[in-house]
Amino acid sequence: MARLSNFFLTFASLLLAGRSTAKYIVPGGRWHDTDGKLISAHAGCVTVEEATGKFWLFGEYKTEGQTEGGGVSVYSSDDLATWESHGLALAPVQGHAYIAPSNIIQRPKVVYSKASNEYHMWWHADNSTYGLLLQGFARSPNISGPYRFVNATAPMGNWSQDFGIFTDYKDGRSYSLYSNGDRKEGRDVYIASYNNDTTGLEKVIHRFDKYDLEAPGIIQTEKSYYALMSHKTGYRPNNVVAFRADSLAGPWSQPFTVAPLNTRTFSSQSGFNLRIKGSKKTTWLYLGDQWDSNSLWESRYIWLPVDIDEQKKSLSLVWNDVYDLNIKTGEWAAVEGKSYYAATNAKTSGGAFKQEASFASHGVIATGIYGNDSTVTFEGIEGTGQPQWVSFYYQNTDDMGYGDQPGGSPDRIGGTWQLRRIASVVVNGDTSELETLFQRDTNKGVILSTPLLLTLEKGRKNTITVGGLFNGFDYKGADLDRIVVYPPEKSSRRAR
Ligand SMILES: *[C@@H]1O[C@H](CO)[C@@H](O)[C@H](O)[C@H]1NC(C)=O
Ligand SMILES: *[C@@H]1O[C@H](CO)[C@@H](O)[C@H](O)[C@H]1NC(C)=O
Ligand SMILES: *[C@@H]1O[C@H](CO)[C@@H](O)[C@H](O)[C@H]1NC(C)=O
Ligand SMILES: *[C@@H]1O[C@H](CO)[C@@H](O)[C@H](O)[C@H]1NC(C)=O
Ligand SMILES: *[C@@H]1O[C@H](CO)[C@@H](O)[C@H](O)[C@H]1NC(C)=O
Ligand SMILES: *[C@@H]1O[C@H](CO)[C@@H](O)[C@H](O)[C@H]1NC(C)=O
Repeated sequence: MARLSNFFLTFASLLLAGRSTAKYIVPGGRWHDTDGKLISAHAGCVTVEEATGKFWLFGEYKTEGQTEGGGVSVYSSDDLATWESHGLALAPVQGHAYIAPSNIIQRPKVVYSKASNEYHMWWHADNSTYGLLLQGFARSPNISGPYRFVNATAPMGNWSQDFGIFTDYKDGRSYSLYSNGDRKEGRDVYIASYNNDTTGLEKVIHRFDKYDLEAPGIIQTEKSYYALMSHKTGYRPNNVVAFRADSLAGPWSQPFTVAPLNTRTFSSQSGFNLRIKGSKKTTWLYLGDQWDSNSLWESRYIWLPVDIDEQKKSLSLVWNDVYDLNIKTGEWAAVEGKSYYAATNAKTSGGAFKQEASFASHGVIATGIYGNDSTVTFEGIEGTGQPQWVSFYYQNTDDMGYGDQPGGSPDRIGGTWQLRRIASVVVNGDTSELETLFQRDTNKGVILSTPLLLTLEKGRKNTITVGGLFNGFDYKGADLDRIVVYPPEKSSRRAR
């Protein structure tokens, strides 16, 4: 009998392992590493270690006291969802001309150099006032570092601001991608080839002339190259565009948007792209940043699968609250959640109320969420007793506009731009476990979502109450359309 149940247990876990090798990827959630710390690797890249197939995430390391010059952090993962920290790959050095804590060390990228059998890191190296506009270079025999600083140089004499790297999978050649700054003589984006050791640049392959874009990255398919870039609106998201070409030298197409208009690319900025060539399918991931200028160190990651139509020569990001990516087969699937609507599953208190909204689910949205006495409570929510991702679908009409940009204006006279509203989220009335939900500006009639990891009681009797917290401006929460409750992660590695 004991043997039999052991057999069944083993069999069951094999089945589970086969069905889901990965933990879920949750764009916009608070991502923690295996030590339980917030993952801090912004505007970076994921480099695949050939020998092991391991993924290495590099990015700008930011903490509350230090949002620039914190060096480059590195994490490793087997599934792109569980990340182990390896500390700093490039640590800042006091008094250094280019990597002191007072320097800008942005958009780091790491590639393997076959010629030297080393890993080479490149980034946007600058002083704190962006007066140098250089490309930094450091190297290490070990992918996790420590990386040894080599130099910071001007790419063929030009300025270099937002920086990216692309490696062509067909011949292994790497290319430097950089915008040459905001000056009138700049405002271009360059593709320049590296020498075969990736220690310096060889020549300019293409210049995207005067589009005034930044945050470049390239997606390569069997037939095409798609260059993705964002507009320049600081830390506020905007409509990321892509250009397509048969060859890196062009001719390149007109730019086109990659996400539904007015979503500001699901509140994200481009930066890097990852190709996963699985046994069944090739999947491309867009690795974007959801900057939070109010608390830069808390900026989130928007990683999304990319849908490419080679016939139509188009590309678009596919929004998923929660998805399951199998890095072995390359397949991914949206995880199905259960929806609870403001219209039918919620009650309001105080000044909160339900209002007709033609664009909302069942034509109704809950609004007037203010402080903790004007709240919306979703009822009858089924839980499992384990942590579960819950996505809050909201509309935030603060009209971010571009009010603090020259020539720009918010959508309201004298409007004050706010990045976000903050809502309080309380499960089953337990205010000692209050969660904070950041709700970015969405535009009128545009409903986007932000996930939180919540633990609901087992059964169907849970309530989730949403109120308004102070965001430095007022106590408003955004308007709510619905919440979607996702099943717990069925990681094959989770201890049972
Ligand atoms: C790199 O390029 C040099 C000169 O073009 C060539 O001699 C060498 O074989 C190349 N090395 C590799 C590893 O491709
Ligand atoms: C940054 O470099 C530029 C160009 O050398 C210089 O004009 C500027 O003063 C520097 N900024 C700081 C903070 O050192
Ligand atoms: C390389 O990095 C790994 C992981 O951080 C570490 O265990 C190993 O000791 C490092 N090797 C060297 C030679 O630094
Ligand atoms: C670093 O780069 C500068 C050019 O930007 C060059 O003059 C200098 O010689 C380089 N230093 C080293 C150690 O290679
Ligand atoms: C950089 O390139 C632009 C054209 O893309 C040119 O007008 C400008 O003078 C260059 N700047 C430097 C410092 O070489
Ligand atoms: C309600 O909000 C007020 C001010 O916004 C705060 O002082 C108070 O602690 C909150 N009460 C609860 C139960 O959250």
